[in-house]
Amino acid sequence: MRRATITGWGRCVPPAVLTNSDLATVMDTSDDWISTRTGIKERRISHTETSDMAAVAGRHALAAAGLEPEQIDLLIVATCTPDRLIPSAASYVQTKLGATAAACLDVNAACSGFVYGLAIANGMIATGGFNRILLIGAERLSMLLDAEERSTAVLFGDGAGAVVIEPAQGDDGVLAVTLGTDGALADKLTVAGFGTERTVGGDEELFKLVMDGQEIFRHAVTRMGESATKVADEAGLELEELDLLIPHQANTRIIDATARRLKMPYEKVFLNIASYGNTSAASIPIALSEAIELGRVRPGANLVMVAFGGGLTWGAVALRFADRVTPLAMSTAALPPTDKTGLELFAEVQEERRRRRGAPPAKSGRG
Ligand SMILES: CC(C)(COP(=O)(O)OP(=O)(O)OC[C@H]1O[C@@H](n2cnc3c(N)ncnc32)[C@H](O)[C@@H]1OP(=O)(O)O)[C@@H](O)C(=O)NCCC(=O)NCCS
Repeated sequence: MRRATITGWGRCVPPAVLTNSDLATVMDTSDDWISTRTGIKERRISHTETSDMAAVAGRHALAAAGLEPEQIDLLIVATCTPDRLIPSAASYVQTKLGATAAACLDVNAACSGFVYGLAIANGMIATGGFNRILLIGAERLSMLLDAEERSTAVLFGDGAGAVVIEPAQGDDGVLAVTLGTDGALADKLTVAGFGTERTVGGDEELFKLVMDGQEIFRHAVTRMGESATKVADEAGLELEELDLLIPHQANTRIIDATARRLKMPYEKVFLNIASYGNTSAASIPIALSEAIELGRVRPGANLVMVAFGGGLTWGAVALRFADRVTPLAMSTAALPPTDKTGLELFAEVQEERRRRRGAPPAKSGRG
């Protein structure tokens, strides 16, 4: 059976930065609270749609793989914040890239979306007759944040990361996959009012992310640890053979617990949560592309990528990286510029929430 391997990688992080201190000017929070509880210092806020970030990340991944968009036969976007319910974000990305020969679909497994997408891409290479797959994790979670939900609003950010997946020529590629879901806990992390139930409630409030933080934390620690250990076992990898753990960047304390469970020394764990917060399905591919650029992925490196998210979903992939860890070409693709700051973009969403609630506009300072 053919094995799927990663031949291209790239990312798109929007330019507007929202720091913890910025947030503290409009919410009852502090840099100290956010940093010590989560490891997050700042996040990016997008001024464009999810599919715009996805297309830019996709162009970088295609260049790294030395491919043209028309050569892609399957385009998967992992996202829980698509531009619209219909069509899929992938359909928009196809047009923005000119990937005209690709079949397109979205995968919604919340923060586990990239790992689910990688598992699907692996299956499509192994048995589905697809040869060049572009898998993108892209999210614009800032649209779901509500300053009145302070334990949630400080956690998330926007961005996109992408990989090109092709049949492996050597002994590299996906070694093992594990996925799971516990739908009984679905309401522990949810965005209501965005689907068919919307027609029943008549609630005019802008949809928002709500979460039971402590419950999510408990399950994340258990499931991330279990699935990372399981996938390393199934891949037949001993601890000393594991080169890098790329965990979903949700919270440094969850990542610490996962690394301890795997008995991974901390220098073998990739962390960039301080710069981006939790970007859901985009977090692992952004981290992977940074890790490669920083020289943290050596040729033939054994990686474990592990995630947890709403659903509740979880999953892990063990993968031996290819021998080539340098891009075949570079792309200059970028988002259109913006003059707005992260705080201004965040404030626009909050203003829209106030308007829909019928509350008076914020004056200045704390809203
Ligand atoms: C959200 C999270 C950081 C909260 O940390 P916690 O230690 O559980 O904090 P608690 O909810 O117990 O709140 C502790 C106190 O901080 C306060 N608080 C909550 N958010 C705050 C904020 N942004 N700033 C300041 N104080 C805050 C609470 O009101 C509470 O105050 P009280 O003790 O006076 O009632 C933590 O639960 C978490 O990371 N959960 C996992 C979330 C996650 O990763 N989700 C995505 C999964 S993919």
